[in-house]
Formats: sequence, structure tokens, C-alpha cells
Amino acid sequence: MCWYGPHRYLNEFIRENLCGRIMEIGVYNGENAVGMVRAAKKGRPASEVEYHGFDFFSSYSTERIGGKLDETGCRHALFEGNTLDTVPEAARILQPMDIIFIDGGKSFSEAWSDWEGAAKLMHDGTGVFIHNVDFAGVEKMVRSIPRDIYDVEMFNPRFEGKVALIRKKPSS
Ligand SMILES: C[S@@+](CC[C@H](N)C(=O)[O-])C[C@H]1O[C@@H](n2cnc3c(N)ncnc32)[C@H](O)[C@@H]1O
Repeated sequence: MCWYGPHRYLNEFIRENLCGRIMEIGVYNGENAVGMVRAAKKGRPASEVEYHGFDFFSSYSTERIGGKLDETGCRHALFEGNTLDTVPEAARILQPMDIIFIDGGKSFSEAWSDWEGAAKLMHDGTGVFIHNVDFAGVEKMVRSIPRDIYDVEMFNPRFEGKVALIRKKPSS
């Protein structure tokens, strides 16, 4: 039930919300990264699209993924290493994102750390999508997100299993 590659709901959110600042935790082969950047380019020039990707980059190197992103003309930064380290570090220095896709490690400790980093980078309109909510660790992470601060919407894209969309409640 694991799907690698472009996810239509991400591209729809990007187009509808004119997203320019994109973050992906778990990049793998970079195909989804390129898909999201292409969607963002429909709403603004490539030079105004920024992609931030986090992964070990062990199967696909940063050079290889960077090359794919260069072809889109976007600005990009790739953070190599364990997201338990890289995401909290980056969350201290990066500006807020318009969309964040959490699709890295599936254990509770990885998923919760990724969520905590993502939460620090949310503005009022940010959409945080969480992949593979069917995995026990990810499910526990989504269950632990405080409902008094965040709206949590669950949906089932075809062939993908459960996905969660997290947004700040208007009053929070
Ligand atoms: C499901 S794939 C990502 C797929 C990609 N988002 C897509 O839609 O095509 C998961 C990725 O997360 C990375 N990953 C898993 N745990 C990680 C961790 N703790 N730190 C860094 N990367 C991790 C793996 O290297 C893998 O490339």
C-alpha cells in the first residue's frame, strides 16, 4: 500500500492555494518533488518556487535529485541525513512553508519528530499532508495531534491507503 511518486491531492492543494514554499520529508527518487514544483509553477514563476527536501539520500543522491530539480528552474535545498536530526535543525532556521508532505520514517518517534518540526513551520494557511496513516507509528502520531489547535481531515486516495491533512484551526 506504499505509493512512490506524484500524488494528485498535493498538486491540487498547491494549485488551489498558489503554494510557492514546499517541504517534503522523505524524497526518495524525487519524482513527487518534481510533480509538486510543476504544480506550483502554474501559479507563479519558477524562480519564486522553493522546494525543501529531507532524506538520507542513500538510494538517490542529492546530486541526482538536485539535477532533476534544476531542470524545473525552481530554487531548492536538500537536507541529507536522519530527519530526527535534520528536521528539528532546519525548523529553527527556515521560513514558514505553504505545504508540507510528511512521508519519511514510519516509526512513532520519527513521525512525531517530523510532525513537531513541520508544526513549527506552519503559517495560518499551511497544509500538512501525512502519508501512510495506516502504519501504526504514523497512526499514533496523527492521533496525538492536539485537536484544539489543529483540524485533522482524513481521506483515502485510490491505491494509497490513508492520508491526513492537518491545518491550523482559524482561532489558534
Ligand atoms: C516513501 S519514501 C518517500 C516517497 C516520496 N515522498 C514520494 O512521494 O515519492 C520514504 C523516504 O523516506 C526516507 N526516510 C525514511 N526514514 C528516514 C529518516 N529517519 N531520515 C531520513 N530519511 C528517511 C527514505 O530514505 C525514503 O526515501
